[in-house]
Amino acid sequence: MTPSPTPDAAPSDFLDMAMKRVDVVIRERLFSRVALVDQIGRYIVEAGGKRVRPRLLLLFAQALGYDGPDSHELAATVEFIHTATLLHDDVVDESSLRRGRATANALFGNAASVLVGDFLYSRAFQMMVSVNRMRVLDVVADATNVIAEGEVLQLMNMHDPDLAVEDYLQVIRFKTAKLFEASARLGAMLGQADAVTEEACADFGRRLGTAFQLVDDLLDYEGRSEELGKNVGDDLREGKATLPILLAMTRSTAEEREMMRRAVQSGEVDRLGQIIDVVRRTGAIEATRQAAEEEIKQARLNLDCLPRNHARDALLELCSRAVYRSS
Ligand code: IPE
Ligand code: IPE
Ligand code: MG
Ligand code: MG
Repeated sequence: MTPSPTPDAAPSDFLDMAMKRVDVVIRERLFSRVALVDQIGRYIVEAGGKRVRPRLLLLFAQALGYDGPDSHELAATVEFIHTATLLHDDVVDESSLRRGRATANALFGNAASVLVGDFLYSRAFQMMVSVNRMRVLDVVADATNVIAEGEVLQLMNMHDPDLAVEDYLQVIRFKTAKLFEASARLGAMLGQADAVTEEACADFGRRLGTAFQLVDDLLDYEGRSEELGKNVGDDLREGKATLPILLAMTRSTAEEREMMRRAVQSGEVDRLGQIIDVVRRTGAIEATRQAAEEEIKQARLNLDCLPRNHARDALLELCSRAVYRSS
């Protein structure tokens, strides 16, 4: 077992120590007697990932005074659910690069990716049951269900250049913000937060998750593949209308608008370079970042209900990093 930080340890040590324990849980819980499950599970997990959701859970628990083993188990649980969604998402999106490596679907095929995604989902459920708290089951089961709805909603919105911004936002609240919300809520529950505080933590998670996906969507237009570890331009290639292009269509000439509409409708990206130029020139990237900043501004207000300690400071830092990131 890793020792606890000493009383004069740097504030970040508390999180680092807990993250090391989460990593141990993740490695142990990845085990399967079926070799291919083990192989694919390790392939995607060992590629890394930012581990934002487990951090969020640990920080809320720590902010409210809880740093026990249930937080490590549940932090690993939310990371497993996230990883399962990535395995499925890359099949659906036909993506070829993830975490700087070939996607599991590119390397092992769609069938194996979907099935190992199912393994990770069900392993996550075994883990959440092991903490033996009924409300935890409620929160995790609900989040998983809503994520699936979000991905299906997005599928239904595909190739629609007239997608309303509110409908786009609903998708990202479901597919991404819900798991952030659940992570924050689980942390608050472990810290025995009262109902008002728990809702404030959940709202923080929801808003941080929304901002995080808004930035993911803008990075798809302005990011660099090598830093992101994913291919840029994939959203348009799939005919996904995200906020940068929805905004660019309201700020461009009729001719440019028509070019973007056609690209969303067909998913043909032969004019991707031109479209990226329009998205950049019209300020749609900055406007998307502003929408993320607005969410973060509201998210931060929720932290007023927490005691002032290292974990609260780290949550504030997480806010800045979510908006100004390149990976
Ligand atoms: C990717 O999530 C999917 C989105 C919700 C944008 P992350 O950006 O957290 O992925 P990893 O875990 O760091 O690879
Ligand atoms: C995130 O959506 C997927 C889920 C939250 C399930 P994206 O499709 O935008 O994520 P990336 O860009 O592939 O990581
Ligand atoms: Mg995707
Ligand atoms: Mg994306």
